[in-house]
Amino acid sequence: MAAPTWLSDAVLYQIYPQSFADSDGDGIGDLRGIAEHLDYLAWLGVTAVWINPCFVSPMGDAGYDIADYFAVDPRYGDNNDLARLVDQTRAHGIRLLLDLVPGHTSGTHPWFVASANDPRDHRYIWAAPAGGRLPERFVPSPGTRPGGYLPNFFDFQPALNFGYARQKADEPWRQGTDAEGPRANRAALRTIMDHWLGLGVSGFRVDMASSLVKDDPGFAGTARLWREVRAWLDRTHPEAALLSEWGDPALAVPAGFHADFFLQFGGPANGGPLRSLWSTGTATSLKEWGTDPCYFDAGGRGSIGTFLNAYQDAFHTIGEPGHVVLPTANHDFARLRTGPRTPEQLPPAFAFQLTFPTLPAIYYGDEIGMRYVPGLPDTEGSVLAPGYNRSGSRTPMQWDPGLNAGFSAAPAGSLYLPVDPDPDRPTVAGQRADRNSLLHLVKDLIAIRRAHPELGPGGSLEILHDGYPLAYLRGGRFLVIVNPCGRVRVLPHDRPELASATGVKHTGVVVAEAKITASPFSFGIFRL
Ligand code: NOJ
Repeated sequence: MAAPTWLSDAVLYQIYPQSFADSDGDGIGDLRGIAEHLDYLAWLGVTAVWINPCFVSPMGDAGYDIADYFAVDPRYGDNNDLARLVDQTRAHGIRLLLDLVPGHTSGTHPWFVASANDPRDHRYIWAAPAGGRLPERFVPSPGTRPGGYLPNFFDFQPALNFGYARQKADEPWRQGTDAEGPRANRAALRTIMDHWLGLGVSGFRVDMASSLVKDDPGFAGTARLWREVRAWLDRTHPEAALLSEWGDPALAVPAGFHADFFLQFGGPANGGPLRSLWSTGTATSLKEWGTDPCYFDAGGRGSIGTFLNAYQDAFHTIGEPGHVVLPTANHDFARLRTGPRTPEQLPPAFAFQLTFPTLPAIYYGDEIGMRYVPGLPDTEGSVLAPGYNRSGSRTPMQWDPGLNAGFSAAPAGSLYLPVDPDPDRPTVAGQRADRNSLLHLVKDLIAIRRAHPELGPGGSLEILHDGYPLAYLRGGRFLVIVNPCGRVRVLPHDRPELASATGVKHTGVVVAEAKITASPFSFGIFRL
């Protein structure tokens, strides 16, 4: 079954709920805060919002350590607030997607507490010590149960047991995927999904989607699991969408997902197609920004090849029924505006994102050019390794020039994370008042994309030039030119039909009879 039409037409927006808008003055964003800004999101033109986990959690990993899948964490409000938010988003023409964390729970989840005290329970993966030692990666049991459990990410996130693809006689914790524990967990997964879909949410972003079945060559067991979920979803909630955090659409879509995110890691190019596009640095280090030029490099030292190959590979494998999601950033990696990247470099990036046949996902604040703020404290597990600090991408949304940038009425010292201290930090209010702002540009580009299906995933793509500038045709009807580098670029061409193209939206690109001239950091969308 193909993806629901609303998804194929979607412009996604990701909200990190801690940092979007604080309605009750406790320094942490909440669901009512989101509700208060739906007019803004509708004005911007986004059609679907994905929020990071908002469920009861000890917040060791910013909510990715869930203690109750069925209850909103009190710091965000309550279940009624979520139900209201679903209705309010719909009333604004926006769909709401939640974050599903199937691979692990918090160590405080009652399932785990029970499991840690009952050796007959197999919802988690337990090993007994052999020769006085636990097998590698296993963490000592916090309960009366002897031995240890397998974590999925941080040590305090015990992996739910979905079984192993391969069994070994001397490793009895490798249960088959149809053992009792895995079956119970698969059933629980559906119950959770059914609960929230029943409330009217439109689907899920699925955390660590490839991590469920362990020691799973080629992800065959994990794919079987998700295809089963998808078959159930198609039957029971055909309008719901499943978006995976997998980082390899060519695997994730055949495994049952409607769409998969390109990420800074993974993928056919192995180096992470997103990193090669607009972020540099390795998957584990934001420190290395600038050492490995990406295509959206001001010096024009990068190549779009890695990204295009990853996209073409994915497209040829998944074809019509699935999509690749192209995020500006997310809560785990660098914002578009990180390190040396300046605001003038952002328009061509958005022009590319919103005219490419991938599904665009805008990370909150990127639409005004919020920057990655360096040097912030470790907050709720945001520092993954020396130099890999996610806090900088998680700072409060900058609404206006008022107290705490309009994010919260709390004293500045009690905010979830500090507001960007830069006196020139951009704000929504400032940019709404300025017709030439990035925000207005992003709004216009969204409107153009939504008005012309040829610019969406259904329209054909013909790459005319894959250097600087990048030139491509969409749906045979739109010419797009993107010059992310800081020098004028001239592209000779021999296609007379281009010269008569009319501008739809452009900054500093001139299309003439035999050549296209693109000023520094420019883009152009032209109708043939
Ligand atoms: C991916 C999430 O995006 C990240 O924030 C989290 O820390 C890990 N998965 C673990 O759930």
